Order: sequence, then C-alpha cells, then structure tokens
Amino acid sequence: MDSKAHMNPINRQWRLAARPQGMVTESNFQLTEGPIPEPGEGEIVMKSRFLTVDPYMRGRMADRASYAEPVAIGDVMTGQSAGTVVASRSDRFKEGDSVLATIGWQEYGALPAQEARRLDPTQAPISTALHVLGMPGLTAYFGLLDVLQAREGQTIVISGAAGAVGSTVGQIAKVKGCRAIGIAGSDAKTRWLTEDLGFDEAINYKSTPHLFQALRACCPDGIDGYFDNVGGPVTDAVIGQLALNARVAICGQISQYNLDRPATGPRLLWNLIVKRATIRGFLVFDFESRYREALGDLGSWVRDGKVTFKENIIEGFESMPRAFMGLFEGTNTGKQLIKI
Ligand SMILES: NC(=O)c1ccc[n+]([C@@H]2O[C@H](COP(=O)([O-])OP(=O)(O)OC[C@H]3O[C@@H](n4cnc5c(N)ncnc54)[C@H](OP(=O)(O)O)[C@@H]3O)[C@@H](O)[C@H]2O)c1
Repeated sequence: MDSKAHMNPINRQWRLAARPQGMVTESNFQLTEGPIPEPGEGEIVMKSRFLTVDPYMRGRMADRASYAEPVAIGDVMTGQSAGTVVASRSDRFKEGDSVLATIGWQEYGALPAQEARRLDPTQAPISTALHVLGMPGLTAYFGLLDVLQAREGQTIVISGAAGAVGSTVGQIAKVKGCRAIGIAGSDAKTRWLTEDLGFDEAINYKSTPHLFQALRACCPDGIDGYFDNVGGPVTDAVIGQLALNARVAICGQISQYNLDRPATGPRLLWNLIVKRATIRGFLVFDFESRYREALGDLGSWVRDGKVTFKENIIEGFESMPRAFMGLFEGTNTGKQLIKI
C-alpha cells in the first residue's frame, strides 16, 4: 500500500439505502466507511481519481427485470472509476499505474487484475476513459455507425444531444459528412452544440413552443436517422418526421426512468409503416468484440480535434448522489464526473 493510502486509511462508499419511488433523492443513498481492502493473489487495489454517474444506474436501483441484476439494498452502488493502482499482487500492474475498472461508488476497490483496463495518461487524460474514450463514446460510435448506419448527406437527429453520448454522436456524424441536428434542454447547451461542436442546428426542447414545427424547419426533407437518448414527448415530435427508409436507434429513454408506472400516450408507430422505417434498441455491450477498432477511431478523432468533449466536474466523493440526480435535471453539459 502506498504512502498516500496510509495517510487516509478509510475507504468511503455510497450504498443503496432504499429503492427510489419516482425521482431519486439523497435518502436513497447511504455513505459508509470501511477499511481499505488488501489485494488477494492476482488482484490489485485501485484508488478512484474520477468517478462517473450514468443514467443506467437508475435502472440498477430498481428491482425489476433488465439486462443486469439490480443493486441489492445495502450494497455499494455500481459504476466505473478511473484511478491509480495503490497495491498490486499481480504481474500485470504495479503501484502508480493508471487503470479503469468497475469498483462501484467507492474510493478504493480490490479486483482481479485482468478486469482492469490499463490507461496511458500520456495519450489522453484518464477521465476520458469514462466518456469519449469509454462506454459513452463506444455507445455513440456503434449506435450511429452500426445501428443507424449513418451515411454522408443524411440528416441525423440526436436527442439528449448535449450529454456524454449525444455530444459524441453529433460530432461523429459530422466526421462522416452527415447533417447533425441536436435537441437539448437549454440555450447554453444548444449554443455549445452549434458554436463549439459543429452541429448544423440545435433546438432547445424546453423553450421551443412547437418542437414538431421547429424540427420540420430544420429537416424539410425528413429525418434519415434518429439517435434517441430520451424518449417521451421529444421522441413523439421526431417520429412523425422520419424520411423514407429511416432508421431509429433506441439508445436511452431517460425521460421515463423515474416514472413508477410506464407512460402511455398517442400511438405514433403507424409512421413506421408509411416510411418503411426500422427501429432498433441496442446495448453497447453487444459490440464488445469491436471495442478496440472503435477506440482506435475515437482516439484518432480526439487527437485530431475532430471530436472534442466537455467535462462537468463536481469535486468530492460526498457529492456523488447530487451529481447523479443532476442527470435527470439536465445540470450537466457534456460528461458528469466526480473528482476526488
Ligand atoms: N444503450 C446503451 O448501451 C447505452 C449506453 C450509455 C448510455 N445510454 C443511454 O443514453 C442516454 C444518455 O446517456 P449519457 O450518459 O450521455 O447521459 P447525459 O446525456 O450526459 O445526461 C443525461 C441528460 O439527459 C437529459 N434529460 C434528463 N431528463 C430528461 C427528460 N425528461 N427529457 C429529455 N431529456 C432529459 C438532460 O439534458 P437536457 O438538459 O438536454 O434535458 C441530461 O443532461 C441515457 O438515456 C442512457 O441511459 C445507453
């Protein structure tokens, strides 16, 4: 164990205290303390430098069937962090190495060395492994290029456009010669998308009185690809404007995650018949065998400045629940991170 670890011999963790009813609150979480773990044979102990909060974690707080097991009451919340190896009983890593691993919402975690991904801080800041060069960036890449099969000249609409996934989708769309139209929740966000990231147009869905008409004005020939991060009324406004043979990628439905009962409403799927459109849900893990290829492309676009990013950083481990709740209020522009 290194000297820094000894200076702070406590490991803090955020645990699931109660399953949320509706919107998540601070009372759903409990801050606990314990000893810093020791590595077993073949294991490392890492110290988190950056932790991430992601919308999927809302699903893990609920006890319902999904693609992964829920977090049990009293267990440490799930999640990745980027940090430093502070103890190692493996040949793969030595103290001081930078790694990415899923150790949950805690300051220190022990894990088998083969489950950690080595990070090279001389190539990119280690925090980028939690967004543009990690899970959200990979989601953007495969959702746009495989699920939507975006091609030059197509009009691609992205909801949740100023978030970690959405902001990357629009920039990759520009690399591929598409028109990128973003939908996001504030004027500051829409300005960032068009002025800094190169989106062709961006619409503030909270202040636009008629999202349907605003979209029609931006997409007079219809929408060839819709990358959906949010669902709900935003998606309702898009579905009626698909172009012939359009594709829809259902990546996320964040507007629905805090509803106790699923929303019902006007049925708009007849639009898919008229437009012979294809709608497909996907999980980034489906593409795991191709992560290396995607990270190669994303890494070179980031190095060339073709894909940029913004980090919305909150300092301090104690801020994690607040940072998480902010995702559902739209407080983040770009990737929400917690820095220790
Ligand atoms: N399928 C997969 O494998 C996969 C992988 C990663 C992420 N996802 C999904 O992708 C989506 C984006 O994830 P992310 O990590 O990039 O999060 P994010 O976009 O960085 O953060 C969430 C954003 O969602 C928007 N939002 C919150 N409530 C909303 C509502 N009721 N209606 C419309 N927008 C709302 C907010 O922005 P505004 O200010 O614009 O409202 C907020 O900033 C999520 O739905 C997530 O579950 C899926």
